[in-house]
Amino acid sequence: MHHNETSRLTADRAGIARAAELLRAGELVAFPTETVYGLGGDARNGRAVAAIYAAKGRPSFNPLIAHVADVETASRYVIWTEAADKLASAFWPGPLTLVLPLREGHGISELVTAGLDTLAVRVPAHPLAQALLAAFGGPVAAPSANPSGRISPTTAAHVHAGLDGRIAAVLDGGSCGVGLESTIIGLNGNPALLRPGGLAAEEIEAVLGQPLTRHATGDAVSAPGQLLSHYAPRGAVRMGASAAQGNEVLLGFGPMACDENLSPTGDLTEAAANLFAALHRLDATGRPIAVAPVPEHGLGAAINDRLRRAAAPRDS
Ligand code: TXA
Ligand code: MG
Repeated sequence: MHHNETSRLTADRAGIARAAELLRAGELVAFPTETVYGLGGDARNGRAVAAIYAAKGRPSFNPLIAHVADVETASRYVIWTEAADKLASAFWPGPLTLVLPLREGHGISELVTAGLDTLAVRVPAHPLAQALLAAFGGPVAAPSANPSGRISPTTAAHVHAGLDGRIAAVLDGGSCGVGLESTIIGLNGNPALLRPGGLAAEEIEAVLGQPLTRHATGDAVSAPGQLLSHYAPRGAVRMGASAAQGNEVLLGFGPMACDENLSPTGDLTEAAANLFAALHRLDATGRPIAVAPVPEHGLGAAINDRLRRAAAPRDS
């Protein structure tokens, strides 16, 4: 699918109707969620899903998340469980993705699941995402709307910068509030943390009443297709820095002198919301990036996960 230009749809009734119509026609539409912008296509349409992989330049073994309007729509595609119900009641709509066994006759393209017998489902909280999913009525496969391996988009301008001419439209909803991708929990077995994200693992454990299975830090693949080098700016990234060296620009956390500060007050929620936009701005300088230490608890676990990927060797 080739588009000379990606149209910008406004956050109103007409923009939402047009976006739903494009999805029905098998076209790709980027849309805001509370975490990051998603690159959406009809999850039942193999050609649309193939076009998502092509637009992102993404390795095709990486399965995608199906976004749905509500639990009822989700349970058309996956086998719903008691644990799923607990978590959905507590956190949906919101930055939480659940991996559950596929249902018989689900109709989801194999390109979404990459041949697995499970499906990742999520009900996003952003009002525009909700309106689009309600108007569309089906499952929307949507990875983050950036070229594969690059920094995730938290504004429509980021989407344009990365994918202009490769997708039909972007629904413009301003900047994303959470700023980090959803937390992914595997529920086809003992509840497992597959990807730290915008909902702190501690909050999920409190609702489940049991600890999540976790993979050792440094495990390259906790969710299938979680590539080690990801979110990569053009210049090198050095973590745990107390000051910039040589040509570096400094990404700070807490009260300190730096080029960009994730949160001058040391607030992890604010830092999560600022992370990708700050990396985009520092990336634009073309200089290597030094990053101050960020604590590992709460949303800090997800922030450090993204930073470690940004800092990882690029040829892995
Ligand atoms: O916040 C988000 O989750 C964003 C917004 C757009 O909703 N989406 C997102 O999608 O981050 P994506 O495609 O970038 O990440 C999907 C992740 C991958 O790491 C993939 O490995 C994992 O979900 N995943 C998908 N299906 C899975 C499955 N059946 N089992 C285990 N992991 C799965
Ligand atoms: Mg992504």
